[in-house]
Amino acid sequence: MLKQNSEKEIISTDRNEIQIESKKYSDYPVNGFYGKFGGAYAPEILQPALGELLKAFEELKSDENFLSELHYLNRHLGGRPTPLYKLNRLTKKFGNAPIILKREDLVHGGAHKFNNVIGQALVAKFLGKPRIIAETGAGQHGVATSIVGAALGLETEIFMGEVDIQRQMPNVQRMKLLGAKVTAVKSGSRTLKDAVNEAMRNWVATVEDTHYLIGSVVGPHPFPLMVRHFQSVIGKELKSEFFETYGRLPSHVVACVGGGSNAAGTFYPLIDDDVELIGVEAGGRGTDLGENSATLNFGSPAIIHGAKSYSIQDNDGQIIETHSISAGLDYPGVGPEHSFWKESGRVRYTSITDTEALQAFNLLCKYEGIIPALESSHALAYALKLSKELDSTEEIVVTLSGRGDKDLNSVLNLQEKE
Ligand SMILES: Cc1ncc(COP(=O)(O)O)c(C=O)c1O
Repeated sequence: MLKQNSEKEIISTDRNEIQIESKKYSDYPVNGFYGKFGGAYAPEILQPALGELLKAFEELKSDENFLSELHYLNRHLGGRPTPLYKLNRLTKKFGNAPIILKREDLVHGGAHKFNNVIGQALVAKFLGKPRIIAETGAGQHGVATSIVGAALGLETEIFMGEVDIQRQMPNVQRMKLLGAKVTAVKSGSRTLKDAVNEAMRNWVATVEDTHYLIGSVVGPHPFPLMVRHFQSVIGKELKSEFFETYGRLPSHVVACVGGGSNAAGTFYPLIDDDVELIGVEAGGRGTDLGENSATLNFGSPAIIHGAKSYSIQDNDGQIIETHSISAGLDYPGVGPEHSFWKESGRVRYTSITDTEALQAFNLLCKYEGIIPALESSHALAYALKLSKELDSTEEIVVTLSGRGDKDLNSVLNLQEKE
């Protein structure tokens, strides 16, 4: 177990040894590791590409030309900055402490995924790679990658599980319209984890001219670091926008966790501040193995997709098929930094069931005129519970990671069945 003391030193009591590392949470990763999590457990053939990527990223993240191009594209193509929006009607009717949305649903493409892909695609261009590949679950990362592929003139191929293709058809059609090749993955559970495996396999074969544009804070180092960096635009804006209106920081900040990129980007700029951070995973149909995708709530540490992190496995250590109503949360792994934040106690991770997420989805539509993504509805559902418990002088900021247009078919089908 790890815990945080008032000087923000992290005290590790693993294997009964007490080690003191004088580090703030924001100092991680150290050599690619977040405490005992992270690393780059990737095939030999990818190691040079991972090294080259880290070097380019370290150089570019403070390069003025790179930063000004990134800023321009985020603002004029992506539509940033996104606003904060206070849910007056919903809070008055169902809660107590005000709930305020960080509106990532307004970003071009319909979700926070754009923030990461635009940064990584610029890095790929700098590395002289003419082709990008990506995996996608909900299709939002695939759409965002197809957008930047078209905008920057990069050949684009998206790997997507067959099951996800069925439940996210509008996004598949969008990717094709944007000029990307969509490859159906027919192995395993035919969902996100299988799409990641297939994209990794393709990268091994094409690494010379291809950048693998990973869609969350997962995978081997430096991907979790790089994705967190580009997604941190969410938390940075949130902090300054909130401060501008309220003159202080919010007491609570909530985000949903699939692989964990919108949550990492929201939390990281607040990680050394006195703000309660809560990650919400998919509780699905219940706590039994295979009935949810709540990796940090019900999983255990393992090596998954190139990094040490929590994952959901059976007794033989096999990664299992998970379930969630929302394709973007239906993943048996999670970013290594979240595993670190969980074990250190810095971030609290909870879960919300399919039914609760659907209820929150409907409430936001009916009371506030916003159709949320099913993924984001998990964060909202938890915020609604929390709002009742808190004082009206505290506030909860929720990252609304995406809009729900892609989920209309799924939601309408479910409502018909009921
Ligand atoms: C709208 C939306 N929110 C959240 C997620 C989950 O991803 P992450 O945890 O990386 O933010 C997805 C994934 O596809 C998504 O589309």
